[in-house]
Amino acid sequence: MRNLNEINITDAVLESFANTPSPRLEEILALLVRHLHDFAREAKLTEAEWMEGIRFLTATGHKSNDIRQEFILLSDTLGLSQLVVAQNNSRPQDATEQTVFGPFHVPGAPVLDAGADMAAGRKGAPCFVDGTVTAGGVPVRNAVVDVWQADGDGFYDVQDEKWSPDAMTLRAVFRTDANGRFSFRTVLPASYPIPTDGPVGDMLRATGRHAMRPAHIHFMIVAGGHETLITHMFVDGDAYLESDTVFGVRSSCIGNYIRHEPGQAPDGTKLNEPFYTLTQEFVLNPLPVPAHA
Ligand code: BEZ
Ligand code: FE
Repeated sequence: MRNLNEINITDAVLESFANTPSPRLEEILALLVRHLHDFAREAKLTEAEWMEGIRFLTATGHKSNDIRQEFILLSDTLGLSQLVVAQNNSRPQDATEQTVFGPFHVPGAPVLDAGADMAAGRKGAPCFVDGTVTAGGVPVRNAVVDVWQADGDGFYDVQDEKWSPDAMTLRAVFRTDANGRFSFRTVLPASYPIPTDGPVGDMLRATGRHAMRPAHIHFMIVAGGHETLITHMFVDGDAYLESDTVFGVRSSCIGNYIRHEPGQAPDGTKLNEPFYTLTQEFVLNPLPVPAHA
């Protein structure tokens, strides 16, 4: 294996993986090398451009830590995250569609009772969410519904410099009742820019792309015997529904947030400002029942 040129080097690298114990690892590495080499040949990549790519990936690593995942953001903005979600979640037609998970979920959010206010004074118009979890037309009881969102100014709690895990807002966990229902009070989320103070932001600026995501509430619903549902409910009419910077919008995930004039809210309180309601069914995909041996 000497004197390799830009053509036969690909086979040489593929052969170097011949003793990989895991066939899947070998398959993935072989495909990666083949596509990377084809990319470099097709782009006629110069050494300076290759070095710029290395610099970019190094900066992406340096920007990442436990709560800032710049590599996921890169995958999101290149459409890779939504591609992987889409190709792994072909679902029955009536099941609610999956979307990207995103970097703002925090495990261990407070478990709240039905109807609780998870906004804790955060900015935004009051919004009352009434959800039902079903599968095959039947309510799913005792499902765990993990919810997180930005406020009416487009900020998640973790983006506050003074944030601590003891003071979580606009995130909570609910359980569905015997009718598959859960409900909470919150604020109407606003559209927001993904973090742009790192290499991904540089990439967006260099390509003339905006950083905005249309307003949404995230839902992760876990119920025994069903596929976990990770989705959002977007706010209908948002200006960024057709140009989400992470390519995550599905038509079936646009919620019907209805605006109401000041008056009596669904929880009986009297509000002096306009408020919103979202009534939403989430349809889970039952897992196949394992055959008994
Ligand atoms: C989010 O919706 O929280 C999100 C998703 C992908 C990238 C950045 C943010
Ligand atoms: Fe989000």
